[in-house]
Amino acid sequence: MQRDWWKSAVVYQVYPRSFADSDGDGVGDLGGILERLDHLVALGIDVVWLSPVYRSPMDDNGYDISDYQDVDPLFGTLAQLDELIARAHAAGMKIVMDLVVNHTSDEHPWFVESRSSTDSPKRDWYWWRPPRPGHEPGAKGAEPTNWGSAFSGPAWTYDETTGDYYLHLFSPKQPDLNWENPEVRAEVHRMMSWWLDRGVDGFRMDVINLISKVTVEAAPGLPEGAIGGRDPRGAGVIDTSEYGDTHPHVVNGPRLHEFLQEMHREVFAHRGPGLLTVGETPGASVEDARLFTDPDRGELDMVFTFEHVDLDSGPGGKWDVVPYRLLDLKRTFGRWQEGLADVGWNSLYWGNHDQPRAVSRYGDDSPEHREASAKALATVLHLHRGTPYVYQGDELGMTNYPFRTIDDFEDLESVNRFRAATSRGDDPDEVLDALRYKGRDNARTPMQWDASPQAGFTTGTPWLAVNPNHTEINAAAQVDDPESVFNHHRRLIALRHDDPVVAHGRFTMVLPDHDQLYVFTRTLDDSTLLVVANLSSLPADASELPDAAAWLAAETVLESGRSDSPGWVLGPWEARVLRRTGGL
Ligand code: GLC
Repeated sequence: MQRDWWKSAVVYQVYPRSFADSDGDGVGDLGGILERLDHLVALGIDVVWLSPVYRSPMDDNGYDISDYQDVDPLFGTLAQLDELIARAHAAGMKIVMDLVVNHTSDEHPWFVESRSSTDSPKRDWYWWRPPRPGHEPGAKGAEPTNWGSAFSGPAWTYDETTGDYYLHLFSPKQPDLNWENPEVRAEVHRMMSWWLDRGVDGFRMDVINLISKVTVEAAPGLPEGAIGGRDPRGAGVIDTSEYGDTHPHVVNGPRLHEFLQEMHREVFAHRGPGLLTVGETPGASVEDARLFTDPDRGELDMVFTFEHVDLDSGPGGKWDVVPYRLLDLKRTFGRWQEGLADVGWNSLYWGNHDQPRAVSRYGDDSPEHREASAKALATVLHLHRGTPYVYQGDELGMTNYPFRTIDDFEDLESVNRFRAATSRGDDPDEVLDALRYKGRDNARTPMQWDASPQAGFTTGTPWLAVNPNHTEINAAAQVDDPESVFNHHRRLIALRHDDPVVAHGRFTMVLPDHDQLYVFTRTLDDSTLLVVANLSSLPADASELPDAAAWLAAETVLESGRSDSPGWVLGPWEARVLRRTGGL
């Protein structure tokens, strides 16, 4: 096996809570994944990324971990996880676990110990700071800095036991680990090795570029964050109207590369090929990504960029929704393709458990265009240079959920946002509109297996309502239909496996200024693929493309949404993939 085997691989993300429920408690579990493994085999994917199944109080649905080396009973048992690893391996698939080590749960024994006294041997494992001088400890404004949390409110919580505050860039139940402390790092490395020894094939590393924060020798002297607007490099999460922007102080910090290199050395370097590491890196630029993913530096195999999922965020952050424009998307992706052309590697994704449904955001989820737009988006993504990640349900073209009121939401990010914004006077309808469009629950509604009342997800009451459109959009209706979104994905995945031009070819953007068409070529040796996709709901004319006549006569590799229009006029959301060989 080659070290860069993942260049021709496709990853599928399972969000266990919403995938399949085997015991009728309304929450997806490992038993459910085991029962549905055939779906992944049929799709042809190579790697499963499993969102957290560890023991957790579930404040952030498992991204708040209280035991890194056990499975939460809600999801099943460690024995079932071993079985999943074994069965996946037997079917030729790998399992990548979510690694959430920027923070733990506040119920993790490390934090329980750390908060117990200022003399605790684990005190320094987290970020403790005294209240701001001259302020009543615990009162508003007494936080050590003005930093805001990604989930609304301050990034510091007062702890009465010792009278200090602890840092949490996410919820108060997710205290940040102090990576400056070498014991913390060693313990994380040990835990990672334990999983790899158990047969796990790598890690998706949660917000890994937040682990090195600004370091100031003279505590408490952490810097304040800017109020109003945000760092343009930021991942657009934080609303800075009330609390300061943390970005410059916690993202891509001074020791990040050192920490990643140390982790690589301690955990991965002595192991054979076959593993995969992918960092979730909000706010990382393409230049940062080159450093993270340059194989000679020994850090990560690939990272997730946030630039394209930030194109519909305005100056007020994630919830300040602005329309997304195709030209901006093409410029962003084009820059990343170019920046990682010779060194490093891209991850490719439209959606995940933190993003709304791709077809509702970048496509057109009206009945008329939903299927064609889902296929066109898949075509564009899978044929870029990089490793594609398919989020569960996107292979079926699942859509956003028709949320009515705030009571329909479960996610703490959305619920907190609603409370914070409306309590300072924002119009509740406007706040809700942004949540409907971008809220994370859109991606977390149960997987749509069939047309039965709970979509085949559970025999009980699902923890989050099933999308009413499951009667039409579901796996049972698609798996045997050659024209389905599912089978279009299957063909794209097979193409990556079969044709080295997809994994290894050079990427060239074509018609960069066209505001409806996404066009590019991939070239390897004497073989060139041309991808032409109309990412709009109106017909589009591609006759300007270089060599248009020759391409019209070329071999068709794949097509979708084909209209009756002649020549180079593409129908709404039509996509074509053509091949020419023999040097152009
Ligand atoms: C990452 C996860 C997200 C989680 C956050 C805090 O962004 O993908 O789901 O809420 O980190 O762990």
